[in-house]
Amino acid sequence: KTVTMSSDALTKDGYAHYMLKEIHEQPTAVANTIADRLYNDKISKYFIDQATAAILEQVENIHIIACGTSFHAGMVARYWLEAITQIPTQVEIASEYRYRKPVVPKNTLFLTISQSGETADSLAALRFAKTAGYLSTFAVCNVANSSLDRETDVCFLTHAGPEIGVASTKALTTQLAVLALLTLKLAEIKNVDEAIRSNLAKQLRTLPGIINQSLLLNDQIKVIAEQIVRRDNALFLGRGVHYPVALEGALKLKEISYIHAEGYPAGELKHGPLALVDEKMPVIAVCPNDELLEKLESNIEEVRARGGELYVFVDHKSQHGLKDRVNHLIEMEASGTFTSPIVFNVPLQLLSYHVAVLRGTDVDQPRNLAKSVTVE
Ligand code: G6P
Repeated sequence: KTVTMSSDALTKDGYAHYMLKEIHEQPTAVANTIADRLYNDKISKYFIDQATAAILEQVENIHIIACGTSFHAGMVARYWLEAITQIPTQVEIASEYRYRKPVVPKNTLFLTISQSGETADSLAALRFAKTAGYLSTFAVCNVANSSLDRETDVCFLTHAGPEIGVASTKALTTQLAVLALLTLKLAEIKNVDEAIRSNLAKQLRTLPGIINQSLLLNDQIKVIAEQIVRRDNALFLGRGVHYPVALEGALKLKEISYIHAEGYPAGELKHGPLALVDEKMPVIAVCPNDELLEKLESNIEEVRARGGELYVFVDHKSQHGLKDRVNHLIEMEASGTFTSPIVFNVPLQLLSYHVAVLRGTDVDQPRNLAKSVTVE
């Protein structure tokens, strides 16, 4: 039932850059990754075998370890896992984790996330974990037969296809799709209410279509890029499960356009970054229609009062409160609160792409960076 990629995975297929092509491949990549792992609004038997299910039944804690964009996927997963399954979850940068002495409680699952499966720090963390008394080691990885795939106990492959652009795009959204499936599976094991579970599954099923809709914002985002390209700094704000999305938006912008960017949890604004806000500071806010909306709106007001340039992404068309108060309001299709931290990445990827193109940087091969960091 796997849908095949329509184009040769190793050419740009008419796109100006691999990154742009890979951004547009996301509906297919995510559909391929979910495919037969979901069946009738439930996790299908093709997602995990019985031995793996038996391990998951014992899980009492989860430690997630990763680098770069994959780390941001892990951060989103932590919000999901704790809120939906109540399993205590930690997430940590691999290069930090490997050199401290982490405490491993009984029945803790180790989970590495890596596009390449060859990142030196993530592999070192896995090798340490194998000696540290974990229940088991699981991984989410895009490359079959990579070192990570070979060395971990259980590997969930993302079916993103080869990712050539150094800045990760489709690898992230497919990692998040797998982590969402894993959350759903654990929710099933923990007997989370069936109505809640089937609602989450429905959101996952409609995800490729919603991502497709978000790609239609391309021209609107190009207009914003023309404003941001003139700036030297940018601030990305989010709250809750969208805080990692803000971090990822900032990472993308700095990686490929070389504009200094920071991602901040919006509630932390007044503890520092607000001092930077003036009419030359673009502030990009990820503003989904969730229980933190009102709080985020008042954070946005704090920025407006100081003259910051506001670019706000919303997923609810009736958001009149913001319309007259921000420089640019970008309205997205509503996806549901479970999958929105996946969807909101897409317009931010397009934004950094267009800023980088306007700046004339080498989008697919940014200076000083490597696709896969295989040395320490
Ligand atoms: C490098 C890449 C990033 C990537 C990170 C982790 O820094 O440029 O795009 O997120 O490594 O890579 P991994 O393959 O482990 O996901």
